[in-house]
This record gives sequence, structure tokens and C-alpha cells, in this order.
Amino acid sequence: MKIHPSILSADFANLEAELETISSADAAHIDVMDNHFVPNLTLGLPIVSKLFEVSKLPLDIHLMIENPDHWAPAYAELGCDSVTFHLEAAQDPIGLARRIREIGSKAAIAIKPNTPFSDVEQLLTEIDMLLVMTVEPGFGGQKLIPETVSKVKAARAAAKASGLSIAIQVDGGVTESNVSLLADAGADVFVAGSAVFSAQNRNLEITKLRELANSH
Ligand code: DX5
Ligand code: ZN
Repeated sequence: MKIHPSILSADFANLEAELETISSADAAHIDVMDNHFVPNLTLGLPIVSKLFEVSKLPLDIHLMIENPDHWAPAYAELGCDSVTFHLEAAQDPIGLARRIREIGSKAAIAIKPNTPFSDVEQLLTEIDMLLVMTVEPGFGGQKLIPETVSKVKAARAAAKASGLSIAIQVDGGVTESNVSLLADAGADVFVAGSAVFSAQNRNLEITKLRELANSH
């Protein structure tokens, strides 16, 4: 069970120091938003490249952008651990996943709450991780949409049935109160933004979330 804090809830003027406060995490989740695919704007390649230089944690890049076919490979070229693009935005998801893997990063596909699992089912063999969004992408601090949990179950069941050991990541509204339920459903990578960054002791909160996920 892995915990990836989302730096969307961090202090953007002090990102290097903020990364130090989550040193017990398994990776740092970086939300790249372009104000087109989602109605919010965060950061892009120049800042991620600097984060990569200073981060002791692997970087998990979540691209909430249009035209990932053009932009995603550059994040892999930086050396990011995983690069996730949205199925809804990609023109050639298979080609793009292959390109990311070829460069040397893990490839992942994200689906929004209203995108059915069946849309991505045939692509599971092409990716290392599936991201099931548990809120509408765009903002931190939202509440998990309960209907998304059944998609996690369907994804885990389909992966098992075809003997695939892919990671299933959940992102949005993950807290101490729902992390074990999500683990039960089959998730094994948990993104938590506000839950981690609003905690007094962020590393302690990461440990708590991991323990709760492990004891589902
Ligand atoms: C939302 C982002 C998330 C967000 C999660 O679009 O993809 O990574 O930061 O934040 P919380 O955990 O606060 O819902
Ligand atoms: Zn995210």
C-alpha cells in the first residue's frame, strides 16, 4: 500500500521545503493542470524539472491537460517515476502509453468519475497503473464521490481475471475514514492532498493512512 501526497495542497512558494515534510511518502503526486482540461492552472514542465532535481521522493505526475500526446513524453524524459494522462484527453492512448514506457517511466491512465471502467478495460495490458478519480479533477479538498468505489472494484476484478498485477490508484477526497474501504475495493496507491498537508505532523498522517490501508 502506497501513499502519494498531492502537493496541490502544499505551499507553492516553498515546494522544496514542503517535499521535506512528507519524506515518509512513497512518492510525491504532482498535479499538472492547464486550465483547459480542468478549470484550474497549476504548474508545468519547467517547475516539475526543478522539483525533480531537489526531490528525494519519486515523482508521480498526474497530467490534467489537453493534448497529453504532445506533452507527456517530456515528463518521462525528465526521469519521473510515473506519468499519468487522462483517457478523455488522449488521442492515441495505446501509442502514448507505449512511448512513456519506452522512455523508461511507468505509464498510467486516469479516468474521470463519469467515464465508465469499460472504456479503459482493453488498455490494462498497456499500463502500469490505472488512476480512478474519486472526485472531479481540478481542485483539492473535495469529498469523495461514493459511486466511484464500484469502479475500483471492477478494475481490480478485471485485472485479477486477466492475471495483471497493475497498480490501482485513487485520487480525491481520500481520508483516514475511507482509506480502508478503498483498499478493500482493490486500490493500492492512495493520493491524499488536504488530508496530509493539513495535518500537524504530515509524516505521521502518511504512516496512519498506510497502516489503515494495510489493515483493511
Ligand atoms: C484533484 C487532484 C488531486 C487533489 C487531491 O484534481 O488530482 O490530486 O490534489 O486532493 P484531496 O486529497 O484534497 O482531495
Ligand atoms: Zn491528482
